[in-house]
Amino acid sequence: MTSATDIRRGTLDAIDRIVHAEATPDAVLQRTVELLHNRFEHYSWVGIYLVEGDDLVLSHWQGPEATEHVRIPIGTGICGAAAATGKTEVVRDVSDDSRYLACFPSTRSEIVVPIHFNGEVVGEIDIDSDLPAAFDEIDRRFLEHVARMLSSPCGAALGRFAWGADGANR
Ligand code: SME
Repeated sequence: MTSATDIRRGTLDAIDRIVHAEATPDAVLQRTVELLHNRFEHYSWVGIYLVEGDDLVLSHWQGPEATEHVRIPIGTGICGAAAATGKTEVVRDVSDDSRYLACFPSTRSEIVVPIHFNGEVVGEIDIDSDLPAAFDEIDRRFLEHVARMLSSPCGAALGRFAWGADGANR
C-alpha cells in the first residue's frame, strides 16, 4: 500500500517534472490543481488565485463545481487575509470564521497558502474540504512546499519574466 507520505513525495516529484516540462506557466498551474485534487481525497476543491492590482483573480481550479468568487479583494475573506499577510491560513471550521466567503454548501474547512515571487505575494493555493478540520501541519508544510515550486510559474503567468527564457523551467 502507498502511504500518505509516499503520495506527497510522489506529488512533489510530479510537480517538479511539470514545472520543468510544460511549455507555458498556465499549463503548469492547471496540471498542478488537477494533481492535487485527484491525489488527495480531502482536497475537495483546489484553486489558484493570482494577484491583479488589489484583487485576487481565480486563475485555475479543479473540483466538482465552479465558484462564484472569481475576483476577491485583498483583505476580504480567508483568501484575502492570506494575501494581505503573506501567511498561510488554516480554518478548521468555516462556519466559525466570520471572514469566510461561502462558495460551496458542502465545505467544512479550508486552507489558503500564499505564493511569493521576489518577496511579494503573487498568488495563492486555496483548498476547500468537505471534511471538518481536514488540514493539519503536514498539509500546511506540504502545500507551502508546492507554493514555493509555483513561484516561477506564477511570476511568469503575471508577465514578470518570459517562461523558458531565463532557464527557470528548463
Ligand atoms: N472561501 C474563500 C473564497 C474562495 S472559495 O473557497 C473557492 C474565502 O473565504 O476567501
